[in-house]
Amino acid sequence: MHILAIHGSPREGGNTEILLDSLIEGALSAGAKVEKVPLYQLKFSPCIECGECDHLGECVLRDDMDRLYESYLNTDVLVVATPIFFYSHTSYVQAFFERFQAFWARKYRLGQQHPLNKTPKGILLALGATKGKKLFEGLVRSFKFVMDAGWGVYVGGLFFREIDKKGDILSRQEALEKARSLGRDLVLKPEEEWDLDRSSSP
Ligand SMILES: Cc1cc2nc3c(=O)[nH]c(=O)nc-3n(C[C@H](O)[C@H](O)[C@H](O)COP(=O)(O)O)c2cc1C
Repeated sequence: MHILAIHGSPREGGNTEILLDSLIEGALSAGAKVEKVPLYQLKFSPCIECGECDHLGECVLRDDMDRLYESYLNTDVLVVATPIFFYSHTSYVQAFFERFQAFWARKYRLGQQHPLNKTPKGILLALGATKGKKLFEGLVRSFKFVMDAGWGVYVGGLFFREIDKKGDILSRQEALEKARSLGRDLVLKPEEEWDLDRSSSP
């Protein structure tokens, strides 16, 4: 089991990273191979809409996404962890998502299959400061399309409200335990038994 764990907050050691690290801890304890990627440490560009992938099936930009494309194609599970910024994901995550256009082109313009015949499963870990009723709706909708572009499927996520200041999540041990337990389950249980919120507006 290979898990690609994307850390999408610009804040090092913040709530998102603490939550993601709990999932990673659980997954490693169950024997997963985990690659954690803090997006803010990478040098990569958003999609520049040059259209080259439409016929090449590959992105022509040469940057740190090169290795992320490779990692994604080898992964069984993609975990994207992000705080809510203005009712959406962060712009680091947005740039990462946009670069899936190269996969979209391969799949829908060129009719290609996943090169390893995998169907990666997409999971969100997300949190925000407010109680907003539809706080995670946009994020879920967007990630569903991203996973579809990458020959994968969104399966659900863990979502937490009223977490704001750096470290606030440490007072929500039940959230961290949920993430840890999910990490273990990704390895030990079939997908139907993963304890996820699967709604379209969690
Ligand atoms: C630029 C920016 C925009 C934000 N927008 C929202 C928002 O729309 N809704 C919300 O509930 N929280 C919002 N927040 C609060 C963050 O989601 C919250 O502080 C979160 O705990 C930060 O997680 P981190 O420590 O992993 O970075 C925003 C924070 C920033 C810096």
